[in-house]
Amino acid sequence: MKTRQWLLESRPTAEITRDNFTMVERDIGEPDMAKGQILVKHQIFACAPAMRGWMQADRPSFVPGIDPGDPIITLGGAKVIRSSNPAYPEGARIFCVGAWQEYQVLDPSVTECRVIEDDLSLADALGIYSMNALTAYFGLLKVGEPKEGETLVVSGAAGSTGSIVVQIGKILGLRVIGIAGGAEKCGWVLNDYGADAVIDYKSENVAERLAALCPKRIDIFFDNVGGDILQAAVDNIAQYGRIILCGQISGYDADRPAPGPRDMMQLVYGSVRMQGFLLHDYASEFDKGRADLRSWIDSGRIKHREDIRPGFEKVPETYAALFHGENRGSLLALIDDEALRKPGA
Ligand SMILES: NC(=O)c1ccc[n+]([C@@H]2O[C@H](COP(=O)([O-])OP(=O)(O)OC[C@H]3O[C@@H](n4cnc5c(N)ncnc54)[C@H](OP(=O)(O)O)[C@@H]3O)[C@@H](O)[C@H]2O)c1
Repeated sequence: MKTRQWLLESRPTAEITRDNFTMVERDIGEPDMAKGQILVKHQIFACAPAMRGWMQADRPSFVPGIDPGDPIITLGGAKVIRSSNPAYPEGARIFCVGAWQEYQVLDPSVTECRVIEDDLSLADALGIYSMNALTAYFGLLKVGEPKEGETLVVSGAAGSTGSIVVQIGKILGLRVIGIAGGAEKCGWVLNDYGADAVIDYKSENVAERLAALCPKRIDIFFDNVGGDILQAAVDNIAQYGRIILCGQISGYDADRPAPGPRDMMQLVYGSVRMQGFLLHDYASEFDKGRADLRSWIDSGRIKHREDIRPGFEKVPETYAALFHGENRGSLLALIDDEALRKPGA
């Protein structure tokens, strides 16, 4: 069985580009049915900012890392096309940890594979019902420990994860301030996602605006960005505040990580808790998270944008858009239009 596959050609040193990748055609063999292996056709890939760090040897990573010559590990949506494994029958649509290639042999006993619900398209499963929605849910509820009436500030507020944090914050009765880049995205945060106020970090002084908007300071800061925006939030954090470190995207596509806050004594004097987390810390509670999100989405209380870009040949360019703020919602690379359809539709 042959497939086209993207490999890492060279490690990105600063901004990631198409030249860091090369496309090859290679033989992937056949699934070993006796071991329960399956052959899948990838239909859609999620573009996760963390993958940028997996390609860089000097950054901490929660996966083994991608070296030059390796396939590009990704979260994807795929259709099972050859199988005798009853848990993953032919025709099943799965969420999986795969690679940037069209076909792949997977062993579900060692690789995460999850059959998705019948009423969802693969684009839904990787969009509105994605891991990012769960990240928003667990980060805010478990790490943030929100209480009704508190002030929540969210960076990356127009993005896949941040937009859900904003909306869960409103559902929980918080006062929510979003930070995003540019007038259009700030408009979504305010008008579509329901924030009480928004700061355009590209045209406004974030620290000054936070001070003006939060006279009683910030109770919870959900940070997707790091760097100067984290510093501005630290400068305005309330006593007993919580800083949720979800990501540091401002430093991912650069030759060095985003800097940490200048003066940690702010956190000492304020008895502030700053805590990082990984979604998988809460794996045992995913069913509850999915059920809550599903009920909020089905009742129209959570809205979502997807930015779906077609073309296997363009996957690297699609991915790089994340780091220029060009994505307009959850960024997905579409390989096969079938990913857009619900079964039977
Ligand atoms: N801890 C976890 O388990 C976990 C799980 C999932 C995601 N995450 C983290 O969540 C964050 C958001 O990921 P996502 O998938 O939801 O992406 P996203 O927010 O949909 O897209 C990335 C956005 O980041 C913003 N951005 C890019 N470069 C920036 C910079 N230099 N300064 C400020 N903002 C910048 C851009 O928005 P603007 O146009 O507004 O600048 C861009 O659209 C990332 O940090 C990611 O690593 C963490």
